[in-house]
This record gives sequence, C-alpha cells and structure tokens, in this order.
Amino acid sequence: MEERERWKRRSDFIFASIGAAIGLGNVWRFPYVTYQYGGGAFLIPYFVALITAGIPLVMLELGVGRIFQAGAPQAFARIRKKLEWIGWLALLAVMIIFLYYSVIMGWVWNYLYYSLKLSWGADPKAFFYNNFLKLSSGPGTLGAINWAIVIGLALSWLWSYNYLRRGTKSISKEIYWTVTIPWMILVIMVIRGLTLPGAVKGLNYYLTPNFKALLNTGPWLAAYGQVFFSLSLAMGSLIIYSSYLPKESDIANNAFIISLADAGTAFFAGFAVFSTLGYLAQTMGLEVPNVISSGFGLAFITYPTAISKMPFAAPFFGVIFFVLLLTLSIDSQISQVEPFAAGFMDKWKFARKKVLPVVVLFGFLGGLFFTTQGGYYWIDIFDYFTCSFVLTFVGLMEAVIVGYVFKASRMREYINEVSEIKIGKWWDICVKFITPIILGFSFIWEFKKVVTKGYGDYPRWATTVGFILVLLLLVLSIVLMSIKGKEEQ
Ligand code: PHE
Repeated sequence: MEERERWKRRSDFIFASIGAAIGLGNVWRFPYVTYQYGGGAFLIPYFVALITAGIPLVMLELGVGRIFQAGAPQAFARIRKKLEWIGWLALLAVMIIFLYYSVIMGWVWNYLYYSLKLSWGADPKAFFYNNFLKLSSGPGTLGAINWAIVIGLALSWLWSYNYLRRGTKSISKEIYWTVTIPWMILVIMVIRGLTLPGAVKGLNYYLTPNFKALLNTGPWLAAYGQVFFSLSLAMGSLIIYSSYLPKESDIANNAFIISLADAGTAFFAGFAVFSTLGYLAQTMGLEVPNVISSGFGLAFITYPTAISKMPFAAPFFGVIFFVLLLTLSIDSQISQVEPFAAGFMDKWKFARKKVLPVVVLFGFLGGLFFTTQGGYYWIDIFDYFTCSFVLTFVGLMEAVIVGYVFKASRMREYINEVSEIKIGKWWDICVKFITPIILGFSFIWEFKKVVTKGYGDYPRWATTVGFILVLLLLVLSIVLMSIKGKEEQ
C-alpha cells in the first residue's frame, strides 16, 4: 500500500488547521451574522454553540481522521459501509462553499486595488453595491459577468493551486506567514475602529445581551451554522488534515488550541466592525441596526470607511487590510479544496496531479455564476442553505454516529490515550445528547419557518431553489457512495 502523506511537525498541523478555521468566516461572516441577529443577542447562542458543539466536534473530527487514516467518506464507511454518504455530503457542502468563497476572495483582490486610491470615496456603501457589484434588482436577474471579479477569482485559484500541488509539503510552506500576518493587521484595525467617534454606540450594540431574543430559534441555528462554518466543521477539512497526522499525535489539546484561536479571532474582529458601525450610525444620524439593510456586504462597507478615516497613510492601511483578508482566506480555501480532492484520491486512487487541475478548473468555472450582477444574492442564498441545513445535518449525523454507532466512550478513551489533556464524561454527554438535541430542534424549527415564510426578502421561488440545492447534494452524495471505489473492486 502507498504511504499516506504526513505533516512533518506538529506545528504544521496546528497552523494548517488554525489557517483553515480562521478566514473570511471570522472577519466577514461572523460580524455580519452577528449584526443580522441583533448584535449582543447573538453572542450568547454563539458561545453556547462553541462549547456544546464546536469544541466537542473538533475533537470528534480529529479523532475520526486519526483513527481511520482517511477523509470523511472513507472514514464513515469504515464505521459502517452504509454511512459513507454522510462523508460525501460533507464534501459536497464544502464544494458549494469553495465555489462562492473564492468569489468573495475575488472581491477582495479588487478592493486591494481600489485601496491604492481609496476609490470608494465618501460613500463606500453606494460604491460597493452600485459601482462595484453593479447589483441587479434581485436573484431573478443575473445580468452580466463582472470581469473584474473574474480576474480576482482566477488569481485566487492559481494561488491556491500552487500550494495544493504537492499536498502537505507545499501547504506547510505557506501557512506560517498567512496565519501570523493577519493577526498583526487586525490589531491595527481594531485600534482604529475603537478610536472613531461613536464607537461606543456600536460596541453597545455588539456586547449588550438581549435575553428575549434567546427565545427565537433563528439566532440559535445561525449560531450553530456560524460555529460550523468558522471551525470548518462538518466539511471534511479537519478530518482530512488530521488523517495526515503521525501516530500518537495529541488530539484534545490541539482541538482546544484551534477552537479558541478561531473564536478569539472572530470576537476580536467584531470590535473592529462594530466600532466602525457605531461611527457610521453617528455620522448618518441613524440607529446602529438601521445602518445597513442587508448585513451581507458589511465588511466591504465598514472597513473601507474606517480605512478612509485613517489620520495618515490611508491607502497603506487599505492595502494591508485587504492583504489581511487575502492571507486569511487563502489557507481556508486550500482547506476546502483539499478534502474534496482527497475524497476522489482516497476512493478511486486517482493521482493528485490529475485530480487537482480538474477540481481547480471546476471551481473557477462554477464560480463564474457568482460573479454576475445577481451573484451577490445567490452567494447569500447558497451560503444560508448550505450552512443552516447541510452543515448542521452533517454535524448532527456525526455526533449520532460516533456517539451511538462507534460509541462515544470508545472514542473518548482513544482520544485520551494520545492526548496531553484528558477529556471527561462531559464530552460523551455533549456528543450523545446536547449537540444532537439542540441541532435537531433548531433544524426542524428553522425548516418550518423557511417553508412557511421563505428565506429573507427574496421571492418565494428562491427558497425553493435553496431546498432543491440541498436535495441535490443529498442525492449526489448517495450516488457517489454507490459508485464502486478502487479497493472494493
Ligand atoms: N473556516 C473558514 C473561515 O472561517 C471557512 C472554511 C469553510 C474553511 C469550510 C474550510 C472549510 O473562513
């Protein structure tokens, strides 16, 4: 049998996983979801989700990858042959994500260029929607392809291809600087945000809890979706990275390091965004919740505003900020493509050299859809349906499968055998009861809500398309399971 690829050092693995976790999810998605669900109202569900599902599932996935020495489909197939599709569903979800994630990276490339001249001028909001995206009237009108975004999209794919080409060897070359540089830049952005007039208003919105809102299911499901997205859970990323670990590698401690680094970064980035929102509210004479109608473009409006307000060398800060976003997102993009490509390499024994160019080309071509004038709406819709329904479903299944089929206690013992910190029975309780119950309930409630009311302000047929997408992924995952792999023949 061929030797499996390996990380050379423990730090290679930790940095790669932190790089996978920390990305646009922290600096773009976390703030906008938080904003959408009422700021402080969202933080409690978020931290509850992190503790009850995030950290336990990071341990679970690292354990699964280490024990079975394979990506998600193969690993679940080794628990029970019939469960392989869960692994494929995870990889199909990550596929949807890399299709639009790389388009957002394409926006960032453009903004990097704009920041040289601060092209967004006095009204970054109008600039983003009208001048840059040239937004169409709704998801029904796709309009023209935006070639500037296409160029950015191509750059992102070429860049990640370069690092994926030689697997763990080339991945570990880039993660060190793409993980550390962003942190330094983020500190500067937070300081700038906090010193803007009106910042306090924004922070109040960000940090004041709203206990009434906890009775709604919306923020809960969104919180679990966000934790999954941000920790790269239920998408095969951590499983595949951990399958490249040498024997006897620690799991529990690594899981804590990865999860806390990720949540810490998101929380910290929130200060930069919300202080700036406070400032915007003050200058526009509005309340914080009314500053931006759809939160989705938040990062591309608030940060440019803050950048323009830099007392000196604004273009310089603009450039470093968008470099921050690029360096943050590149290792996440890599960690999305790697499990997907590895799924095919593991099952059909295709060579990396052959699979990668196909996946990269597919990613680029598929991304074109999101570069249209209506693409912005579709990113929102695809993101919502994938994260809220597919990811939470896969997470639920993972917990149930490891909890009951493989047995939580067996996995815990295994983790404890190799780990520096020992985890207690609380872990079994999270995996067997808390995570599945909370995920199950919020899933059903959200489902009911979307079926009756539709998603967002979009026309009803957009919701139907969202559900069709989910169904399609489900069917595809079963198809992929039923095609015979190489070792089975
Ligand atoms: N966690 C990454 C982020 O926060 C995104 C990601 C999703 C990475 C899926 C890998 C897999 O940006």
